[in-house]
Amino acid sequence: RIAGPSGLVIFGVTGDLSRKKLMPAIYDLANRGLLPPGFSLVGFARRDWEDEDFAQVVHDSVKEHSRTPFREEVWQQLAKGMRFIQGEFVDDAAFDKLRSTIEELDKEQGTGGNFAFYLSVPPKFFPQVVRQLKDHGLADPPKGSWRRAVIEKPFGHDLASAQELNKVVHEVFPRDEVFRIDHYLGKETVQNILALRFANSMFEPIWNRGYVDHVQITMAEDIGIGGRAGYYDGIGAARDVIQNHLLQLMALTAMEEPASFHPKALVTEKLKVLTSVKIPDDLGKHTVRGQYAHGFQGGEEVPGYLEEEGIDPKSKTDTYAAIKLEINNRRWAGVPFYLRTGKRLGRRVTEIAVVFQRAPYLPFDAAATEELGQNALVIRVQPDEGVTVRFGSKVPGTSMEVRDVTMDFAYGESFTESSPEAYERLILDVLLGDANLFPRHQEVEESWRILDPIEKYWDAHGKPAQYESGTWGPAAADEMLARDGRSWRRP
Ligand code: BG6
Repeated sequence: RIAGPSGLVIFGVTGDLSRKKLMPAIYDLANRGLLPPGFSLVGFARRDWEDEDFAQVVHDSVKEHSRTPFREEVWQQLAKGMRFIQGEFVDDAAFDKLRSTIEELDKEQGTGGNFAFYLSVPPKFFPQVVRQLKDHGLADPPKGSWRRAVIEKPFGHDLASAQELNKVVHEVFPRDEVFRIDHYLGKETVQNILALRFANSMFEPIWNRGYVDHVQITMAEDIGIGGRAGYYDGIGAARDVIQNHLLQLMALTAMEEPASFHPKALVTEKLKVLTSVKIPDDLGKHTVRGQYAHGFQGGEEVPGYLEEEGIDPKSKTDTYAAIKLEINNRRWAGVPFYLRTGKRLGRRVTEIAVVFQRAPYLPFDAAATEELGQNALVIRVQPDEGVTVRFGSKVPGTSMEVRDVTMDFAYGESFTESSPEAYERLILDVLLGDANLFPRHQEVEESWRILDPIEKYWDAHGKPAQYESGTWGPAAADEMLARDGRSWRRP
């Protein structure tokens, strides 16, 4: 799978995402031989830069963040197709320049008129940029070529704003040419969820309410908000990652087998899960939010959220969120899916734990199984990528005693192939026009439908509970599971 003649225009090219993820991903793709020889990269931003300044920034970002070794000849080839357009999004002249630049690149680099426009800008600018692309004829592909829009999250702030954005984008780009980024879908371990479930025969028969007690999906981060106060405050953990990453993980874990591995078939199944989600009646009992307080992480003292630079000291923004959802269908009715995420937690880990019911009867002395937990299958999304199965085993010795043991699959031990970074995979797929790993507009809207009432409830009810940095979140989250006779895993 190698991309054909094409180019990429990045709006918001001076931002963090661009420097840390997009530029290195493009270089890594080039280095792996997956980009066409004349691939072109156009940056668009307000900064007063020339082409060379832009190329220098890309160079520095590649040196610092790329995964593959730096090779001068790959860099030189890539740098030939780099251009910078200086301007504001309202600036007609800048969009005219963009148009002529693209036409020049078609001639000089052989991009064939194929361009993707990557909107790595705050959502309030989406409508404007998209309209400018339309007004300047950039969204209409020359005959035989394509034009695509790539949209970063956050995709709206709630259902109404997401619907509005979808409307604006669809007025300009055909639905099949709109690629919404959820970078979790670009992760190797996330793509493996469907391989694990549907390429094997041993898991699917027990993947249902007859055997599964509950599912826990955890995305824990040890970092705080860093320099992202402007983006994060007022958004919070649930909008930042539950609305997208965690609900996508849940959909992949819970969905039925797709008819094929075609985008439409995948969306159909994911969408069925999202539309079947039951939001708890008592949101006070089945959702929890928190905010990190001062504490210690890795031996270092760290400030609380309200003490971070740029944060309103009265902010009610959640940096931790846990919610209990159910899926109203034959496979999952009555099986809780607990989703949680937080910043400044004990460690960085994302995992999906499918926890099974206890054996219906244990023909041992009670003492023999005192230390036996519940069977579990844990998909370790990151950082220690793999899958763990936990089950009971006899403790060696002269008496019958059963204890939990684990069986592990680790990527590093089973494969010599390296995993591409999520953005590498996603950018390549955009250039190939492969939409499998991109949420469709209906999924985005359904996810907001799930989150909206929860956010509304939180807005109307007090403040998030404080939790000490470096711990596993507020006590209320533990109580939420304890009320159901369960407890969170401590990964
Ligand atoms: C982003 C969120 O989508 O995901 C960030 O906006 C978060 O707040 C990041 O830190 C985590 O991504 P990853 O790939 O490091 O787990």
